[in-house]
Amino acid sequence: MKNISDISLAGKRVLIRVDFNVPLDEYFNITDDSRMQAALPTIKKVIKDGGKAIIMSHLGRPKNGFEARFSLKHTVKHLSDLLEIDVRFSSDCIGENTISDIASMENGDVLILENLRFYPEEKAGDINFAKQLANLGDVYINDAFGTAHRAHASTAVIADYFPNDKYFGLLLSNEINSLKIALDKPKRPFTAIIGGAKITGKIDVITSLFDKVDNLIIGGGMAYTFAKAMGGTIGNSLVEEDKVELAKSLIADAQKKGVQLLLTSDSVNADDFNNNATIQNSEITNVPNGFMGLDIGGDSITHFSTIILDSKTIIWNGPMGVFEMENFSNGTKKIGEAICKATKNGAFSLVGGGDSVAAVKQFGFADKVSYISTGGGAMLKYLEGKELPGVVAIQK
Ligand code: 3PG
Ligand code: MG
Repeated sequence: MKNISDISLAGKRVLIRVDFNVPLDEYFNITDDSRMQAALPTIKKVIKDGGKAIIMSHLGRPKNGFEARFSLKHTVKHLSDLLEIDVRFSSDCIGENTISDIASMENGDVLILENLRFYPEEKAGDINFAKQLANLGDVYINDAFGTAHRAHASTAVIADYFPNDKYFGLLLSNEINSLKIALDKPKRPFTAIIGGAKITGKIDVITSLFDKVDNLIIGGGMAYTFAKAMGGTIGNSLVEEDKVELAKSLIADAQKKGVQLLLTSDSVNADDFNNNATIQNSEITNVPNGFMGLDIGGDSITHFSTIILDSKTIIWNGPMGVFEMENFSNGTKKIGEAICKATKNGAFSLVGGGDSVAAVKQFGFADKVSYISTGGGAMLKYLEGKELPGVVAIQK
């Protein structure tokens, strides 16, 4: 991969596409700055070389042009603190004002451009818009792994204007290298843990992981659709009625491919979606009427943990239960603990997806797993074996 470690960016205007799509609270404080932290090595490299770092990103999904709550201005102070320099801000991302903001930059300066998605042309992959962005820099670096699955103007189209001056940032390289460790020559047994609310959105990844892994563990809300597929009764648990047949065929597929598919066997149930609800446990195929399953039960934890502790490569996407509520957090926490323990014993573990990463942080496991991805959708796409437009654009 062509990355920036081996070149000097001295004196260059360096356009860096990052993913500063970070969660903000109601006062616009950043509640999780992982994606900003992860982009620091690339930005620091540009500063150290004596280049001009021009940072471009999107934030949220603005619908109709400028919306104050989605302004990248909210990231300026925090980036200044992280870099210990005064980061500047341009209130647009193209046009005369931005051009003059860049013209007044000194070597070593950092400037954040306003949210690219205030222009619908960004998501449309508009060529003219990409060209206007490209004109702002001498070199283009893509370090936005979290957005690498989008073929947008700033993530893919723009690269065409830098045939000899386009590079992967250090984060993007690390992300791809970590995924490669897991997928290309995994040490076995190789176990994938897939959770989260819905099968929809994870079907392709489950199917393609069948060709790669030895064990595939299914937990979280989607486990109840599988329980229904096995003929169980699941009370008021989350179910995707239109995916029950698909769940049946996934169970059959796993068998054909010789993958051990580990489905949740027991469930922690509640009579309301509420931490203070009345709780009872049952087999997952026997959830009583009036109850909904909100976490995996003790037998599932024991069984999954045994498999995880025996694994040499582990990938995890999606929580095992509603871990945000204390009474339904045990399954996610215990599975996280098993992954940390396996990692300590030498396994390679990769965690991705907003909710699982939030869980890993909440439980204090962040430095006990091998790699935490900054991508959710992008990581899933890669695991599905699909090409990421943001990666292809640099390689071609
Ligand atoms: C994300 O958080 O998923 C990335 O920043 C991409 O954003 P998007 O899903 O709105 O394209
Ligand atoms: Mg997304």
